Amino acid sequence: MKKITKAVFPVGGMGTRFLPATKSIPKELLPIIDKPLIQYAVEEAIAAGIETLIFITSASKHAISDHFDPMPDLRAKFMAQNKSHLVEKLDTLPVKIQRVFIPQGAPLGLGHAVLQAEAMIGTDEMFAVILADDFIQAETNPLQRLITVAETNHSATISVEEVSDDRISSYGVIKPSEWQSDYTRVVDIIEKPSLKMAPSNFGVIGRYVLPQSVFSVLKETQMDNNQEYQLTDALNALMNSSGLQAVKLAGQRFDCGSQEGFVLANLHVAMQNPEFKSQIQNYLSN
Ligand code: UTP
Repeated sequence: MKKITKAVFPVGGMGTRFLPATKSIPKELLPIIDKPLIQYAVEEAIAAGIETLIFITSASKHAISDHFDPMPDLRAKFMAQNKSHLVEKLDTLPVKIQRVFIPQGAPLGLGHAVLQAEAMIGTDEMFAVILADDFIQAETNPLQRLITVAETNHSATISVEEVSDDRISSYGVIKPSEWQSDYTRVVDIIEKPSLKMAPSNFGVIGRYVLPQSVFSVLKETQMDNNQEYQLTDALNALMNSSGLQAVKLAGQRFDCGSQEGFVLANLHVAMQNPEFKSQIQNYLSN
């Protein structure tokens, strides 16, 4: 099997939950303290061996491309001033990493966004999909773990997390078979079930490794009631053909597509900074 070296970043969503900020700033550029969500996602991908980044964008998201552009003038200025700590912050992408931007055309859902990457993926090639708004803090690189399981089982692999009862109906939910350490074969997957219909409390989160065959499946997928093409429908079809594995996330995830998750993620990262930590603790105790 060919090594997994390509990752798709769907960044074509409207980000309505962050309006008016997302009128001009793509949701994926919102920062956790000083680093945008998309930068964290790209760093996770590169650390997992990804060499080609494929961004599925909307017309108004040029700022994401700008973020990864080199700034030679500013870089030279900081170098001349011996400000290497600032130079490091400008270098958002190693030079050997290739970037590709593909317009989605219309925000017709995650399944539709992933389909736009078809021309970039070779026959029998597997690729990663990362949703930058699922912000993950973990000891082990979550995508790396997914890639290892996908390569071992030669099948599509997704990341899941235990979700509370009151949130379950916002997720794609899997029915696991037997767990082998941290992963299991998926025997059913239901998009946004009611609590009663949920086959488990393991919700699908924003890390996937998919085979090239997902594209033909996506082309057969029907629009849902919200006029969107869901990725879950394609995962269901893959499960029935070549199989689907799910890896339990070992780490903490923040849903930064929601305001609450975004605030908590910022707080979590701030608390890791000893200087901020004492100030936050003082603030909260007052
Ligand atoms: P969300 O479901 O969070 O949708 O997308 P959204 O449009 O970004 O946000 P809200 O619900 O309007 O606030 C999950 C991920 O899928 C991408 C988004 O950019 C986000 O990274 N996405 C979603 C696309 O790339 N295209 C789409 O058509 C929909």
